[in-house]
Amino acid sequence: MNAVLSSASPSSVPAHVKHERLIQWVHEIAALTQPDRIEWCDGSQEEYDRLCDMMVKAGTLRRLNPAKRPNSFLAWSDPSDVARVEDRTYICTETPEEAGPTNNWIAPAEMRGTLNGLFEGCMKGRTLYVIPFSMGPLGSPIAHIGVELSDSPYVVVNMRIMTRMGKAVYDVLGKDGDFVPCVHTVGKPLAAGEADVAWPCNTTKYIVHFPKTREIWSFGSGYGGNALLGKKCFALRIASTMGRDQGWLAEHMLILGVTSPEGKKYHVAAAFPSACGKTNFAMLIPPKSLGGWKVTTIGDDIAWIKPGADGRLYAINPEAGYFGVAPGTNDKTNHNCMASLNENVLFTNVALTDDGDVWWEGMSKEAPAHLVDWTGQDWTPDCGRKAAHPNARFTVAASQNPVIDENWDNPAGVAIDAFIFGGRRSTTVPLVTQARDWVEGVYMAATMGSETTAAAFGQQGVVRRDPFAMLPFCGYNMSDYFRHWLDLGARLKQSGAKMPGIFCVNWFRTDENGKFVWPGFGENMRVLKWMLERLEGKASGVDHVFGTSPSYTDLSWDGLAFSEAEFGKITSIDVEAWQQEFALHEELFEKLAYHLPAELRQTKEALRAKLAA
Ligand code: OXD
Ligand code: MN
Repeated sequence: MNAVLSSASPSSVPAHVKHERLIQWVHEIAALTQPDRIEWCDGSQEEYDRLCDMMVKAGTLRRLNPAKRPNSFLAWSDPSDVARVEDRTYICTETPEEAGPTNNWIAPAEMRGTLNGLFEGCMKGRTLYVIPFSMGPLGSPIAHIGVELSDSPYVVVNMRIMTRMGKAVYDVLGKDGDFVPCVHTVGKPLAAGEADVAWPCNTTKYIVHFPKTREIWSFGSGYGGNALLGKKCFALRIASTMGRDQGWLAEHMLILGVTSPEGKKYHVAAAFPSACGKTNFAMLIPPKSLGGWKVTTIGDDIAWIKPGADGRLYAINPEAGYFGVAPGTNDKTNHNCMASLNENVLFTNVALTDDGDVWWEGMSKEAPAHLVDWTGQDWTPDCGRKAAHPNARFTVAASQNPVIDENWDNPAGVAIDAFIFGGRRSTTVPLVTQARDWVEGVYMAATMGSETTAAAFGQQGVVRRDPFAMLPFCGYNMSDYFRHWLDLGARLKQSGAKMPGIFCVNWFRTDENGKFVWPGFGENMRVLKWMLERLEGKASGVDHVFGTSPSYTDLSWDGLAFSEAEFGKITSIDVEAWQQEFALHEELFEKLAYHLPAELRQTKEALRAKLAA
């Protein structure tokens, strides 16, 4: 039986919670937010089932047809609460320079005043759930702990899938272990007798980070990264500042295991901005014609990477589940992902079929003749509306991935052999380029850009500079973050250990008709193979202005009809386009001028001079 406690009664804290500072903090937040009850979550199946049943009764969740999708649910959010709200996301450092020009900043004292006003009484009529979670395998030296206080049962059940959540976390915390305090409210208190709505939220939203005290406060949204505070808020924004202070990296990267036909295993970490097929790359199926390469998933979105005693970098996936974009996913684009979604899934904002299953744009070639769309309206293929919201999501345990890596849960992490940085660019950036050294790699990652998609940003085809794919996620000044990467590289070099290779990829070059030239998906294995062979000194490449790329004959083409002319279209270096590109890099560097490492300016000048020559 779960501990259901009165907010006024510290004595009713469960016996397994022995951390006085944590208990006191819970009661301070309860005194501020004034919930009707406090529930200390234990992470059990009983708790999960009970909360899901409760949400079905409240209309927040719909149980899907158990014959089609066992133990799975569908939630439809309020139409105003469908995505992360970057313009309402704040980094509250002492000075604006510490947050840097890529973050929204408000002085901590002013923000605390605003939050105190907003949070006072914000949980009236609701339950405050205490959600203990570990980001990373419990007790791993790379992992860290958080506790989220939330008035949303939807958050509780999502956090149970997305993190290692529950009672065992208190064993790691002990009496005085460190944890990141995360406070979340949907921001809709209920007056006595007031009926709740299916998706409570508030039009006022604040997603706030205090890096100095490592606190997260989130008001007004129940959706994804705004509310599941272990993900972008903790694992990237707060953890990036922890990494800066403690000498490690928190990155917006998937992690892959790649095993060669000879049985040699490599690990690569890859950063892609939103809408670049990151989940597809994380679950890539190599073409059989390449002769027995195997790809396994360690993580699909975030990597925590710490230097080991041997001088190598060791990475874990801090998450335990995938919160992936559903639209566009199908058996052809991502068979492994579809296979992960057969049961035990929480879907949000996809459409409901007449037989109680789910559907989204791109799931099948033909749309069903009738659906109920994510707004609850009848939908037919000719109605002119999308059935699923473009940012509709699934939440599913990583363990359901059929190609999960045997080490995905290893507390020691996996040694990283290569970093990959990718963006969506229809022109200019070649298929793959290897940086000639660490500084050049940092330059590549720092100047990375990606074209926006209508689904992700409402506007198509504008190049948004997204350094390291961290633009919305770096919890401190971006230039200081570049410095951190450069310093880490210098330290790795000093240790004498083999440095990870750094590569930049672009799957998205188009032809004169605007069509993608590169087939992508599983065929990206050909590029991955070249990268790993480069690390072994087994593949050649051509040096150019930006780094080293393969010539046509450096890639394996068995089983794929892809001509040298087509290859030219996705690898050519257009001098004029690169002149413009460097001008855009300069623009970025002007924006980031405060603390911008001199090495990056020097690299730009050296590359520019190469281009001119
Ligand atoms: C995500 C993102 O949802 O990067 O993972 O936007
Ligand atoms: Mn992401």
